[in-house]
Amino acid sequence: MSAVASTTGICTRRELLQLAAGGGLCAGALAGLGGPAVATSAATVAPRLRDLAAAGGRFYGAATGRRQLEADPDFARCFAAECGLLVPENELKWRALRPAPDQFDFSGADWLVAFARRQGLLVRGHTLVWHDALAPWLQTVRRARDAEQLLGAHIAAVVGRYAGQMHSWDVVNEVINPEDGRADGLRASFWQARLDSAYIELAFHQAAAADPAARLVLNETQIEYDDDASARRRDHLLALLQRLLAKGVPVHALGVQSHLVGHVASDFHALADFLDEVERLGLRLIVTELDVRDWELPAEPAARDAAVAAVYADYLAMMLPRPNLDGVVTWGLSDRYTWLSEYGARADGAPVRPLPFDHACQRKLAWSAISTALQTVANKTRT
Ligand code: G3I
Repeated sequence: MSAVASTTGICTRRELLQLAAGGGLCAGALAGLGGPAVATSAATVAPRLRDLAAAGGRFYGAATGRRQLEADPDFARCFAAECGLLVPENELKWRALRPAPDQFDFSGADWLVAFARRQGLLVRGHTLVWHDALAPWLQTVRRARDAEQLLGAHIAAVVGRYAGQMHSWDVVNEVINPEDGRADGLRASFWQARLDSAYIELAFHQAAAADPAARLVLNETQIEYDDDASARRRDHLLALLQRLLAKGVPVHALGVQSHLVGHVASDFHALADFLDEVERLGLRLIVTELDVRDWELPAEPAARDAAVAAVYADYLAMMLPRPNLDGVVTWGLSDRYTWLSEYGARADGAPVRPLPFDHACQRKLAWSAISTALQTVANKTRT
């Protein structure tokens, strides 16, 4: 059974669910949490997620943006204290980097990489090839050889600029989409239309040439649940990974995005079986974008937080002990800044609470769930 523990006690999953239903109290899970909002963030108090992760040979990090860190010193302090790795949430996407065909704007990404260096954080690059957040002018590129030239030059410039400074790169992002009807399950995207599936190989080879030290990741979404749609995506994804590795394409890791849903219970059994296969291929694993959407959960914050934390606990109990897992990234750190405020808003208008820290940058039950899972792996490493 998964449990949420603290330095002084343990809160079982059943107790979390009782909390979620509006009853029961679990003192154990509340130890280590921040208490009422104060000027100083709870992250200044040990233990911190970055240290717990490191003790188990993993990293813990989060996605963030320049605007948040620059304008909000309280949040920046919390981020630097609690995270061992930073992912630029938007600054390395084509839309941000490429204002015009002959221009690069590295200002946002450079700022974040410098922040990470000052604070001693690793950085993950996200993302070189995606169907979304494209530069609007790209639509005028029609011929295959122009698209190929552009993509190669883009990757050489961007990966080359940060060579030696990136833990890993999401080389291609979300390339599987069986709903588009192709037999191989590949997404019908801008890149697919111009270059067919060759764009995937091209991107990995170019990235490897530009930074031989970076771990090269194929990052995928909506593969976590037990339903038919997820199963189809996993099948196509496994076949793609096998094809790429058989051809000697330098894919080093699978990124499992892990945008989870609070009201869907799962033991993630089907995902675990799939990840066994992926690990047998010799690939590393990274949880790249973890969060728990709360839009169908009760409005009352304590109950909502307990339900969200139970999902974190169940997921990480399966994921964190995996032998090939490098680490866990949450897609944001504090509920103050999350893409779900825009894309996962609740019908009742209540602010969403999908992340380990609340709006005041105080630790929540989700933080406790993550810290327990990290602690469990650290304890096993010691014995
Ligand atoms: O570019 C404008 C900017 O000029 C303007 O000031 C700002 C005002 O709100 O809007 C800006 O664009 C927004 C951009 O984020 C940068 O903040 C877009 O409207 C918004 O749609 C965009 O959303 C991002 C989304 O990817 C699309 O790129 C989210 O922040 C980001 O969390 C989300 O992240 C994705 C991962 O990259 C891939 N996996 C799924 C994940 C969640 O969708």
